[in-house]
Amino acid sequence: MILLDGKACANHLNAKLKEKIAADTALGFRPPGLIVLMVGDNAASTIYVRNKERMAKDVGMFAKTVHLPESIQETELTTLIHEFNAADDIDGILVQLPLPAHINATSCLLAISPTKDVDGFHPTNAGCLTLGLPGLRPCTPKGILALLRHYHLSPAGKHAVVVGRSNIVGKPLALMLAEPLEYANATVTICHSQTTNLAAICKSADFLFCSVGKPHFFDRNYVKEGAVVVDVGITRTENGIEGDANFADLADHVLAISPVPGGVGPMTIAMLLQNTVQAWESRRK
Ligand code: GUN
Repeated sequence: MILLDGKACANHLNAKLKEKIAADTALGFRPPGLIVLMVGDNAASTIYVRNKERMAKDVGMFAKTVHLPESIQETELTTLIHEFNAADDIDGILVQLPLPAHINATSCLLAISPTKDVDGFHPTNAGCLTLGLPGLRPCTPKGILALLRHYHLSPAGKHAVVVGRSNIVGKPLALMLAEPLEYANATVTICHSQTTNLAAICKSADFLFCSVGKPHFFDRNYVKEGAVVVDVGITRTENGIEGDANFADLADHVLAISPVPGGVGPMTIAMLLQNTVQAWESRRK
C-alpha cells in the first residue's frame, strides 16, 4: 500500500517555493503578502489560521492575521476587505470560514478582489474553473491533485467518485478532476446525502474522494480492491482528528490511501502559499 504522505509532499513543495521567493526577492521584488481575516474565536479556525500564518512566514512571505470580534458588522468587514484590495503590498486576502450567522459569507467573498482571492472562492474564480479559464483554484482540490501527481497516480480515463458536494471541496474537486489536463481527465461521479446506492457507486471507483465528515465511514464495503482513496474528512473527536475512511480496514485492500491527519490538510496550506505566489506574480505584470 502506498501512503499518500501529504506532510512530506507539502514540505517538498514549500521548500521549493521558499527558494523561488528568496531568488525573486534577491532580484529586488518585495515579498508576497498574505492577509488572513479571522472573525470570532472558533477553536478549529484559530488553529488553521495560526498554521496558515506560520507556514506563510516560513517560506518568506509577509503574513498577518487580523483578529476581528464576533460582533463585527458585515459593512465593517467589507470595508476592511476593500482597504486590503487597494493595498499594493498585499497579494492574497483570505476570510476564514465559517463566519458568524449575522454576516453573509457570499457578500464578503464577493468583496475580495478576484486577483487576490487566494482561496479561489470568488464567483469570478469559480466561473473561471467552470469554463476552464486560468484563475485561482480552491486550495483543497488543488492540493489533492498535487498529491496524486507527486505519487504519479493519474486519474486520467479512470472512474473518480467524489462524495460530498460542498463549494470548498466536492464541487470544485469534481470540476478539476474532469478538466482536460494531465493528472485529471477523469470520468467523474458526484455523490451526496441524497444518493441512493452509495456503496455500489463508491465500489466502482478507481479513485475515491471522501468528504462527508463521518469518521471511519468508508470501509471495504465501499471501496474496490486496488483503488486509490483520498480522505478529505476532518472530524474532531476525543481521539483527535479523524478522517472519513476506515484506514485500518482499508490499509491492505487499496493501492494507495491518504492518512488523517497528515494527508490532505498540509496540502491545502501548501496550495494557499502557491496561490499567493501566483497572485504575486500576476500582479507584477
Ligand atoms: N474553512 C475551512 N476550510 C477553509 C478554507 O479552505 N478556506 C477558508 N477561508 N476557510 C475555511
